[in-house]
Amino acid sequence: METDQTPLRVALLGCGTVGGAVAQKITRHGDELAARVGRPLELVGIAVRRAGRDRSDLGIDPTLFTTDAEELVTRADIVVEVIGGIDPARGLILRAMEHGASVVSANKALLAEDGPALYAAADAAGVDLYYEAAVAGAIPILRPIHESLAGDEITKVLGIVNGTTNFVLDAMDTTGAGFAETVERAQALGYAEADPTADVEGFDAAAKAAILASLAFHTRVSSADVYRDGITDVTAGDIQAAREMGCVVKLLAICERVEGEGGEPGVSVRVHPAMIPRTHPLASVREAFNAVFVDAAAAGELMFYGQGAGGDPTASAVLGDVVAVARHRVAGGRGPGEIAYADLPVLPMGSAQTRYHISLDVADRPGVLAQVARIFAEHEVSIETVRQQVVPDEDEQARAYLIVVTHTAADAALSATVDALADLETVNEVTSVMRVEGS
Ligand code: NDP
Ligand code: HSE
Repeated sequence: METDQTPLRVALLGCGTVGGAVAQKITRHGDELAARVGRPLELVGIAVRRAGRDRSDLGIDPTLFTTDAEELVTRADIVVEVIGGIDPARGLILRAMEHGASVVSANKALLAEDGPALYAAADAAGVDLYYEAAVAGAIPILRPIHESLAGDEITKVLGIVNGTTNFVLDAMDTTGAGFAETVERAQALGYAEADPTADVEGFDAAAKAAILASLAFHTRVSSADVYRDGITDVTAGDIQAAREMGCVVKLLAICERVEGEGGEPGVSVRVHPAMIPRTHPLASVREAFNAVFVDAAAAGELMFYGQGAGGDPTASAVLGDVVAVARHRVAGGRGPGEIAYADLPVLPMGSAQTRYHISLDVADRPGVLAQVARIFAEHEVSIETVRQQVVPDEDEQARAYLIVVTHTAADAALSATVDALADLETVNEVTSVMRVEGS
């Protein structure tokens, strides 16, 4: 039977790190993509901001470039948005859908801020919205959660979803160097941006956590719902303390099904540095790699690992989505849209269950340990281990370091315990506080 071989028109918005790699692959591997889709894909235009920029190294027909993205999106069947940021990306996506195009995006910031509105527009237009590349670059993680695990119940997603911070923390662990020095090295090697704020302050990971939680728990979660602590306060001392405990420090995105104080179901979504045992699978994720650990009721533990950024790796995920939505065009129909029926509340950080590693600089005299222990007891926080190290002091005042690791407790109780410890007259300083996960 003759099938329609009219090319599906693809418009690309953005031709930077990701867009350049996508454009090259569509151009160079057109025949294979056509065979996989069942119809040819034709790149009909590439919108950029700077018209005069030399892009000859990409080997792409220069007549395809335009600065008129508004016009370009009206003449495509599939629009690939790899501009980034909120506006004009949002307006262009909505306009593309209004004109009947399916959309593929890598834009975690936008999806985590306004995902439901984009899904609603996709529904109204009867088109697809796919965004596998928005979380963990090349790693197929969103479709496994959204589709492959749709028959199961996901209870927890624990991920290293930011390559820059993983590179920095890994390098601090390997070299013993401090945070600022390591970020400078990461910038020199091209692993960290000139302005690393979005990565080191945890904004990038928080957006990805919101997307993971929304899909895993069938609930709307936006970036603003995610508790966020970056890695800027992680010191060489914290890394050393983790090492002494047989742990490494990682910036984790943690999405969990939890129960509130009254036993009501909810979700906890948070991004913060945490110590994890060196035996945990996520501890072996080195340099700028990403990994996501999923726990599901029937499937058990699953781990997804790979490159979380870079032109070619991210283009792989983008093109996977392009082929998927193109196949839907050929066959008729759409992929799954937003599934938010569970509508679980996002519970505050205070109700998250975690463990703390606390280092205290204390006076070394009778009764101090008892005072410290009393504070933990008053807050109903159970101590798992205590280690004391006497510090030779130049002022000839007897001092000691106390290192306390707690059992699991509500974050609010742990945090109040730390505040009360800091107020004790015998505590010179709370030198480090870090959550402990994965054990
Ligand atoms: P770049 O900054 O490298 O590229 C952005 C592109 O968008 C450039 O080509 C730029 O044009 C174009 N652009 C910017 N503003 C406009 C506008 N108003 N109209 C038309 N074009 C515009 O970004 P990346 O490729 O790194 O990232 C793109 C997206 O992919 C982001 O959402 C990012 O979060 C996501 N992503 C990126 C990863 C990575 O490794 N880089 C990994 C995973 C996701 P010009 O070239 O003229 O400046
Ligand atoms: N800046 C991100 C990271 C890559 O360091 O992982 C894009 O998601």
